[in-house]
Amino acid sequence: MDKLNKELIQVKNRLTKIELQIDSLNTEYQFLQDKLHLYFDSPTTDTTDTEKYIISDFWSTAYNKYLDGGYITNDEYISEVRFAYEIQLLNKIIDKKCNAKEKAVDICCGNGRYTEEFDKKFDKTTGIDLSESIILENNKKIKHIDFINADFMAMDSSQLGTFDFVFVSDIFTYTNQENIENTFKNLLKLLNKKGILVLRESTMIIGYEDYKSRNYVAYYRNAKFYEKGIFKHYFKKSYRNYAYNLYHLNKYFNVHKNAKENIRKDPQLLNQVVKDSVDLNLRTCHFYVYKK
Ligand SMILES: C[S@@+](CC[C@H](N)C(=O)[O-])C[C@H]1O[C@@H](n2cnc3c(N)ncnc32)[C@H](O)[C@@H]1O
Repeated sequence: MDKLNKELIQVKNRLTKIELQIDSLNTEYQFLQDKLHLYFDSPTTDTTDTEKYIISDFWSTAYNKYLDGGYITNDEYISEVRFAYEIQLLNKIIDKKCNAKEKAVDICCGNGRYTEEFDKKFDKTTGIDLSESIILENNKKIKHIDFINADFMAMDSSQLGTFDFVFVSDIFTYTNQENIENTFKNLLKLLNKKGILVLRESTMIIGYEDYKSRNYVAYYRNAKFYEKGIFKHYFKKSYRNYAYNLYHLNKYFNVHKNAKENIRKDPQLLNQVVKDSVDLNLRTCHFYVYKK
């Protein structure tokens, strides 16, 4: 046998060994997934602590993994336009619904970009986030705002005092059914007499989607969920965040060549564009306003 054939037989043998390892890893992978999801999906087991760990682990790396860790995207256009749209809408909500402008808190503040915008409107603004690394960075970069590293779900919210404006980003998207009522009560405790609570939550217009069983923990609830039940008594108004659906506009941008630039100049154009061009079955996002 010549040298080349000997070498090729070695290659084939190595491939066979690798295939065996892959099979064994696949079996272990499936076993581990099944174990996690068997308990996650059971209505009688409490997996809150594991869910919290998964969320915390996900967010502690998101800001390094993505150009825009808060929105989980590497797309600069989506990041810029979505932020501009959301801030315009939030400023409108604050101007319309917020009667006092002394104290504000941004819970789940991430990299503090919303906190900085709120700080322009209120005398004093505080940011809170679960991710230690992002809070360290914020405190280095943004000296005039206090950023606190804490798990809002585990902290005694009465330590924080009360506020005119409480903004919370996606906390219920990461909260299982068992902990909804407690979390909402803790948020209401933060409101002073004139205060408003604004939630930004990922939602569905039609139905709901539970992502707990797909290597990530997120509850995409029906948009009406946050207006009914325990929320009903305090609920004032909801606004659809059309900028969330920028992720779904590829086809539209491909056909309408000037649309991207026009929307960059006036992000509120998204209200109509998304209404006309995005499937209602896809995930979206809402802002909800509550008052005590
Ligand atoms: C969707 S990101 C929003 C970040 C930021 N508001 C933005 O839009 O760029 C969600 C943030 O919530 C934080 N978070 C999730 N659960 C939390 C909790 N229980 N307490 C405090 N922060 C939490 C995560 O660390 C993450 O930074």
